[in-house]
Amino acid sequence: MGLHVVILAAGQGKRMNSALPKVLQPLADRPLLKHVVESAQALAPERIHVVYGHGGEQVQSALGYLDVRWVYQAEQLGTGHAVAQAIGDVPDDAQVLVLYGDVPLMRAATLTHLVGTAGDNALALLTVVLADPSGYGRIVRNDDNRVVGIVEEKDASADERHIRETNTGLMCAQASHLRGWLSRLTNANAQGEYYLTDCIALAAADGVSVVAGQAGTVDETQGINNKLDLSRAERILQRRQAEVLMAQGLMLRDPDRFDLRGTLRVGRDTVIDINAVIEGDVVLGDNVSIGPHCVLRHCTIDDNTQVLSHSVIEHAVVGAHCQIGPFARLRPETRVGDRAKIGNFVETKKISLGRGSKINHLSYVGDASVGDNVNIGAGVITCNYDGANKHVTTIGDDAFIGSDTQLVAPVSVGNGATIGAGSTITKTAPAQALTLSRSKQFTVDGWTRPKKDNPGHS
Ligand code: UD1
Ligand code: CA
Repeated sequence: MGLHVVILAAGQGKRMNSALPKVLQPLADRPLLKHVVESAQALAPERIHVVYGHGGEQVQSALGYLDVRWVYQAEQLGTGHAVAQAIGDVPDDAQVLVLYGDVPLMRAATLTHLVGTAGDNALALLTVVLADPSGYGRIVRNDDNRVVGIVEEKDASADERHIRETNTGLMCAQASHLRGWLSRLTNANAQGEYYLTDCIALAAADGVSVVAGQAGTVDETQGINNKLDLSRAERILQRRQAEVLMAQGLMLRDPDRFDLRGTLRVGRDTVIDINAVIEGDVVLGDNVSIGPHCVLRHCTIDDNTQVLSHSVIEHAVVGAHCQIGPFARLRPETRVGDRAKIGNFVETKKISLGRGSKINHLSYVGDASVGDNVNIGAGVITCNYDGANKHVTTIGDDAFIGSDTQLVAPVSVGNGATIGAGSTITKTAPAQALTLSRSKQFTVDGWTRPKKDNPGHS
């Protein structure tokens, strides 16, 4: 008996008020639907069927690569209609697990448990008791406490609205049963839709046992209908990720002020201060320290390096024992050697900075190869762009570039060269020599500043 998973993802999500279809709304930078597909994949089912419709082209171009069977629902006639579109060819004795594309935080263990509960013959659904059940379908039980139906909020009587046990949207039953119930659905309800949830009453009336499992945590069942829900789900997911990383030895000064939108691998004794945003694939070695308010995107930072507050590091590789920031900006293709320093208001792009080299203050260094133990003074600029093309600056080992120097690329500075402060370097600066370009200073003795004419009529 195989397992088929049906994911409902055709709705527009009117309540999101967004140009983006709901199932593409990002949670930790990944579309909601991707999270649900990943939970389904964890069960290793025979097949995953995704019912899509609204924003179909957008959904296909964002997620068309997923290994699922795409089922197009041209008109969104309701969740029951959507499931019916998907299960036509599913073998009679297969189990069908229905997931909603807008309920993205379900844990694989909860899904596995639900599938086990359904077995060959029962209808299993997952319910949760909420302090505020508004917006969700309510679970109706009879005097024996057996589930006899689900009533949607819009169809519920005043009494039914007081029920706090709600439908999470998760359901599992045998394909032949489900097909039978779906064929009997009507749309005689407040929304004029074919509700999947009406299958519960039909099952109960047929004498099929309806087993309601309670979700492990309320958090898992968070549905997403509007942006407030989306922000809640984001915090739940972020907290979950933070706890996993902390169990692996990462110290987060405040797990509630940490955002991982990608993957993070960390060594031991690494500390991340508050409000870090980590995107893409980031690798931090042992004993790395990330200061408050940093953004790290697709980068690798080696052991014992300190990144001080408000630094932004993107597509870069930073060696061991370095100090970066505060307020440093490392742009793509920056490679920093061990024990180097990049200080405040320094921007780098496509450079290699040798071991022990320093760019401590207010500089722009781009398209450059910088040797070991180079000292780049305050306010040094590589003029790498002539308005049409980018050119390279090469600086040898042990060079010293005086403050406020412009290096007009293509240009090179030899090993051990010294550049006097305030120079504009346009030609090769030879090794082991002092090169400077500076207009001569002169003094006008006894000079007085001009005074305003007609001081009364200013
Ligand atoms: C649904 C349930 C409700 C439950 C809640 C949990 C029904 C009738 N109601 O309500 O009991 O408490 O979820 O979050 O099922 N969809 C389609 N095709 C359609 C209609 C919907 O694919 O024709 C998809 C949507 O894209 C969405 C999911 O089904 O991913 C649920 O639809 P939605 O309209 O959000 O249902 P709710 O009102 O939230
Ligand atoms: Ca919903």
